[in-house]
Amino acid sequence: MKKAKVILDADFTVAETDEKLFSSFVEPLGRCVYGGLYEPGHPTADEDGFRRDVMDVLRPLNLTMNRFPGGNFVSTYRWEDGIGPKDKRPARPEPAWQCTETNRFGLDEFARWSRKMGSDVMMTVNLTTRGVLEAMDCVEYCNLPGGTFWSEKRKENGFKDPLGYRYWCLSNEVDGVWQVGQKPAREYGLLAREASKGMKRIDPGIRTVLAGSSAPDLDTCPDYDAEVLDIAYDQVDYISIHNYIGNSSGDSLSYAAKPLIANRFIEDIAAVIRMIRLKHRTDHRVYISFDEFNTWHSINTAFNDGRLWRTAPPLLEDTYTAEDVIALGGMLLAVLRHADVVKIACLSEIVNCISHVRTRNGGGCWVMPPYYAYLHYSRYGRGTVLQTNVRSDTYSCEKFGEVPLLDAQAVRAEDGSVTVFAINRSFDEELELEVLLRGFGDLKVEEHLVVTSDDPAATNTEECPDNVVPTGDGGAYAEDGAVKAVLKKMSWNVIRLAGSEIH
Ligand code: AHR
Repeated sequence: MKKAKVILDADFTVAETDEKLFSSFVEPLGRCVYGGLYEPGHPTADEDGFRRDVMDVLRPLNLTMNRFPGGNFVSTYRWEDGIGPKDKRPARPEPAWQCTETNRFGLDEFARWSRKMGSDVMMTVNLTTRGVLEAMDCVEYCNLPGGTFWSEKRKENGFKDPLGYRYWCLSNEVDGVWQVGQKPAREYGLLAREASKGMKRIDPGIRTVLAGSSAPDLDTCPDYDAEVLDIAYDQVDYISIHNYIGNSSGDSLSYAAKPLIANRFIEDIAAVIRMIRLKHRTDHRVYISFDEFNTWHSINTAFNDGRLWRTAPPLLEDTYTAEDVIALGGMLLAVLRHADVVKIACLSEIVNCISHVRTRNGGGCWVMPPYYAYLHYSRYGRGTVLQTNVRSDTYSCEKFGEVPLLDAQAVRAEDGSVTVFAINRSFDEELELEVLLRGFGDLKVEEHLVVTSDDPAATNTEECPDNVVPTGDGGAYAEDGAVKAVLKKMSWNVIRLAGSEIH
């Protein structure tokens, strides 16, 4: 049997996880909002039209913060369209996804929905087709206590107290040729710097996110990131990067290893940040906001069949299967592994579009297999990330050559319990795992959760929602200061270890 070994030492850590690593992204795209979060008239809709069944499915994810409203959507967005009485709001052609935006759900509704969910909001402003002043107005609307034009408007709209939004994205994917308002690095860097300055003059407590590379394989990466950071470094707090992986070619062996791309992308952008910091001779720290990542198979296919200006049609609704658990799981481990430089991470998106949570208009809400990897990440991934030294047998794939069969990352929670996340990337073989633990005291295996299926294409549907779900039958056990397990083929494993005094 193929083998892998992990060595953990209680004294060797990476960093504390930031709460914002457990965040998501909401864009009024397709049925993410309309038919997803919001569907007045749905049997489960509450007094605001929010689907309770969707909230119930999302609540266990314990999302710290959600980015809103884009995404490509924000590039021509007027935030004022989404506030105040709904009957006064304009319907507009939305050019990013070429749909009609009714504006029935906007900034005000998202504030209400987020409060009900107990999650924070990261707003994205439109600098590229609007500008600095409109962004400052939005900060005023959200964060000033009152006595000014926009803060009084917010009060009129039912929010007596400031919304208190701390995190603000300075536009989205401005490097992308697909973006309305795409800009060369110099132009965007100057614009973002001045916007951040102006927005912080309105509320000095906010933190801003510069838009960096939309994907690691763009020709402009990493020059774009270096140039915008060089111009705006002292005025911003994060740089945003995005990464989607998919398996449109049917090469599952390479797909299972594609999280290596995210690992390297994060490390490369961290190096760019360090280089600019050194150049500026400053102590100011800029961190990575990995505010869009996920599996996305249909990324390169036409999204609207040439049928323009429909209202909330189903767009980007890929089916996600057991094999996607391995790919998403690897991306989640990449985030944890780099908790020293990544401080915001948003799974993209929250419902229906590129999402593992799916709804039917007027009907049910169900989750596809990768949902469970995120659930485990959010439930057990908070704490101190441990340096996780892996030695593993390998397999061979077309895109990356020899790749370790094991991907693993361990986290120690505040109560001293340790979770080892482990992925067996093999599609046909089990993997013998040994975890050597030093300095943790007497840890016992509490639970070994597994998500897998004999069929990589297995998924969940409205009719069969429990086809692929976690089981507790991983079989890990402690022996002679080590934890041992046989990882099933193509499996996501969560091995939870606790001392006898921890409960
Ligand atoms: O999430 C879908 C789209 O992917 C977002 O709107 C955009 O930022 C990215 O290209």
